[in-house]
Amino acid sequence: MATQQVEKRTESKYIMGEFPIYLAGNWVTTSSQLEVTYPYDGSVVAYTYQAGKQELDKAITKAQEAFYQLSSMPSFQRANILQHVASRLRENKEDIARTITLEAGKPIKDSRVEVDRAILTFTLAAEEAKRIHGEVVPLDLLPSGSNKMGIVRRFPIGPVAAISPFNFPLNLAAHKVAPAIAVGNPVVLKPPSKTPITWLKVARFFEETDLPEGALSVLPMDRNTGDLLVSDERIKLLTFTGSDVVGWELKKKAGKKNVILELGGNAGVVVDKDADIEHASRRLAYGSFAYAGQICISVQRIFVHKDIYEDLKAALVEQTGKLKVGDPLQEDTDVSPLIDNRALDRVESWVQEAVQKGAKVVTGGKRDGNIFEPTILENVPEDARVCSQEAFAPVVIISPVENFEDGLRAINRSRFGLQAGVFTNDISKATLAFNALEVGGVVVNDVPTFRVDNMPYGGVKDSGLGREGIRYAIEHMTEYKIMILPYDNRD
Ligand code: SIN
Repeated sequence: MATQQVEKRTESKYIMGEFPIYLAGNWVTTSSQLEVTYPYDGSVVAYTYQAGKQELDKAITKAQEAFYQLSSMPSFQRANILQHVASRLRENKEDIARTITLEAGKPIKDSRVEVDRAILTFTLAAEEAKRIHGEVVPLDLLPSGSNKMGIVRRFPIGPVAAISPFNFPLNLAAHKVAPAIAVGNPVVLKPPSKTPITWLKVARFFEETDLPEGALSVLPMDRNTGDLLVSDERIKLLTFTGSDVVGWELKKKAGKKNVILELGGNAGVVVDKDADIEHASRRLAYGSFAYAGQICISVQRIFVHKDIYEDLKAALVEQTGKLKVGDPLQEDTDVSPLIDNRALDRVESWVQEAVQKGAKVVTGGKRDGNIFEPTILENVPEDARVCSQEAFAPVVIISPVENFEDGLRAINRSRFGLQAGVFTNDISKATLAFNALEVGGVVVNDVPTFRVDNMPYGGVKDSGLGREGIRYAIEHMTEYKIMILPYDNRD
C-alpha cells in the first residue's frame, strides 16, 4: 500500500516560536495547529492554533458578558487602554514590523510605516473615546411637545465581529478594534490565517491594561467557524475587510447586525495633458507596485491624455525599472513576493488571458519564484479580468484617452469605486473629478494609494459599505438614544 506523503515545511532561521491564541483574557491552544510561513521562501516562521466552534462560542459569551463593564467604564479609562497599546507599539516597533514582514512578506520599510500608522490609529481612537458627544434637541415643534426637550447621546451597540485581511496585518485590524474599544464595544477578532501572529502579539499589550476580561479575543479560525461568528445573533456589528466576493456573501449571513464592508477595487487614475510627467510617473510606479500591488487602493488602470501618452509610458517604464525587487527583509526592497502560490497562479493566468485578447506587455509579465515582476500592460480590453476584476498583484494597465472627461468616464466604467487619482493642475478639472467620480475618495495630483488614518475610508458600488477612519467607524459602532425631558411639571 502506498504511504501518503505529507509535505513537511522547513523551519525558517527567523522562526518566532509558538503562539497560543487569545480567548477572553486567556491564552489557549487547540487541536488544530496552524503554520505561518514567510511568503518569500515558504519556510515556517511561527506556529499557532485555530479556534473551533467551542472556543468561538466561549469568546462570544464572554464578549456579551463584558459589554456592560466596558461600556460603563469612564471614557478616560478606555482612552488609557488605547494609549497604552499605542505606547507599547512604539516601544516594540522593530519587533512588530519584522513580524509583519515575516508573515505577510511586506518590505520591511513598509512594515515600519504600518506600525507608525497603527500608533496613530490607536492614538486617534484614544482621543475620540473622550469625544462621544451628544446634543439637545428641541421638541416644541408641535403643541404636544411644547413643554419638552430631548437629550440625544450615542451608545455603543454591542459585541463586534471583526474580520481583517492579510495585507495590513496590524493596522486594518486596528481600524476595527480601536474604535470598538473607544466606544465600549467588546470585540472578537478573526485575524487572517496567513498573518495571525502580529495581533497575537498586540493582544499581549491589551492584557497589560484594565480591559475587562472578555472584551477582546483574537482567534484565528477557518472559514466555516468564521461564518458562525458572522451569523451569531449576539454579535451586533460585523466589520470586514477583504475581497468583494467574500464580503457581500458575509453580509447575507449577517442577519440583523450592522455591517461595514471595506472591499476591493481596480483603482483608476487619469493623467491629463498638463500634468507633471516626472512626478506622475514616479508616483504611479509607487502606487502600482508597492507591496506588489496587494493593497485595495493600488493603481490598476491608468488613463493618459493621448498627447502625452508615449512620454508618460516611457517615464513609467523608467521609474518601474528603478524599483528594487526581492527579499522583503532587505532594507531597500520595494517589490516583494505575492502572499502565496494561488495568488501567483491567478495573476499569471489573468495576464495570459489579457495577452490572448490582444494586450501587449510593455514590461514585466513573468514570474520568478514567489515574485511576479512589476508588469505594465497596454491595449487591454475592458472585459479582460486583469482590468475588470481586482488584480491585487503588481500589474497595471495603461490606456490613452481623448481628453480628461473621457478618462473620468473610463474610471467609472467599473463595478468598483474605492479611490481614484487625477493628475491635473486645473482646479476646475479637479473639482469636476470630485463631483463625477463614483468612488469614496478622489486624490488630486497623486495616486489613489494614499491614506491617512483619520480620513473617511471606504467605497461605493461593489467596493463596500460604510466608512472607517476612527470617527467614521464610531458612527457605525454606536446608536443614538434620546431621553425626553419636561422643562417643568406642567401638563
Ligand atoms: C487597504 O488595502 O484597503 C488598506 C490601504 C491602507 O490602509 O493604506
